[in-house]
Amino acid sequence: MFKLTKTACKMSLRRPPEVVLRCAIAKEACRRVGISPCLTSARTHVHKAAVCTELGKPLQIRTDIPTPQSLEKGQVLIAVQAVGINFADVLLCAGLYQEKPPLPFIPGSEISGEVAAVGEGVTDLAINDRVLALSRLSGFSEFCVIDSKAVWKMPETLAYPEAAALLVSYGTAFMALTRTAQVKPGETILVTAAAGALGLAAVDLGVNTFGCNVIAACGGEEKGLLVKEKGAHHVIDYTKEDMRQRVKEITEGRGANVIIDPVGGQVFMDCIRSVAFEGRIVTLGYASGDIPKVPANHLLVKSCSVMGLYWGSYSKLHPEAHAHSIASILRLSREGKVSPHVSKVFPLEQANEALRFLHSRKSTGKVCLQVGKD
Ligand SMILES: NC(=O)c1ccc[n+]([C@@H]2O[C@H](COP(=O)([O-])OP(=O)(O)OC[C@H]3O[C@@H](n4cnc5c(N)ncnc54)[C@H](OP(=O)(O)O)[C@@H]3O)[C@@H](O)[C@H]2O)c1
Repeated sequence: MFKLTKTACKMSLRRPPEVVLRCAIAKEACRRVGISPCLTSARTHVHKAAVCTELGKPLQIRTDIPTPQSLEKGQVLIAVQAVGINFADVLLCAGLYQEKPPLPFIPGSEISGEVAAVGEGVTDLAINDRVLALSRLSGFSEFCVIDSKAVWKMPETLAYPEAAALLVSYGTAFMALTRTAQVKPGETILVTAAAGALGLAAVDLGVNTFGCNVIAACGGEEKGLLVKEKGAHHVIDYTKEDMRQRVKEITEGRGANVIIDPVGGQVFMDCIRSVAFEGRIVTLGYASGDIPKVPANHLLVKSCSVMGLYWGSYSKLHPEAHAHSIASILRLSREGKVSPHVSKVFPLEQANEALRFLHSRKSTGKVCLQVGKD
């Protein structure tokens, strides 16, 4: 049922496979919490996780989550090292997300870590491989089981927190700019919430991969400095400046060809007024909490389009397009062309503080949880 390392195979001559797997997991658990494997006992068959037991209430830090002792065909057990926190995790734990998993659940969808065990049929991954993975839930945990189709080898140059910050933001920004907006080199892109995780990925890709002229709109001086550092050609502080007027000045009246908007509300309405003739606006989220109504007459006058994108849904509805965006991002990362920015790393025990920090609008780039010791 399990694929074992050479040492584990030798051990398996003396012990049944499930005992060998249990020992491998226990050894890894011991290494991670810093105790000697000889202390292994029943307590190493449980692990720590942050659990949502009631929507809208703080997560509970539990140390008694059973560590899986067997895997189904195609599954991988990951010893989690870091988890990227997404805005969706905040909404999910508050009960405000479009998906509502049954309680209790362990949030966390963007994971990096080491392979601790592989199930039958997994041929491209081995124990100790450094990997990144996507899962609907379960990342805020020392161990999690994920289908091997959603696990990829980590680009060697990345540390665990950066690896956990890569896929969702960059995958979404990549698909928004390519498949959805069909951006061309030299076009002008306006990115709102440009210092946030998704916005910064769009700025990075727009400047450094697609050769576009990028206008980054965000709130505050510090955020402005960061987007400039990432290469944005123009910065608008939309908490102080009139975004529409500034875009008009920067583009000499033409407007932006492509707009990436994860904010919604009034910012989206200003985007409609800042788009060029035949421009494309991609609506990606509503961080403002306000879902805007599209004034169709404005689209007619400018012959422009508003398009939506929910990147996660492509894993089921268009797996090839989803896989293409991931493969492209991993390649760009290996080539050193994109680099995620992690502004703050919290220990797993401070998962509630991390979620609050993300919601406070103070974060830039990605916020991560450090789970393992590496
Ligand atoms: N469609 C998809 O597939 C997809 C994928 C990933 C994320 N998203 C969505 O995109 C949005 C942004 O995600 P993210 O990961 O970039 O989040 P993030 O890193 O937390 O950035 C959100 C940014 O939104 C801006 N903002 C404006 N009004 C806000 C408010 N009232 N409260 C909080 N923030 C506000 C803030 O930037 P300023 O201070 O600069 O305004 C904030 O930094 C979320 O709604 C998320 O669900 C969608």
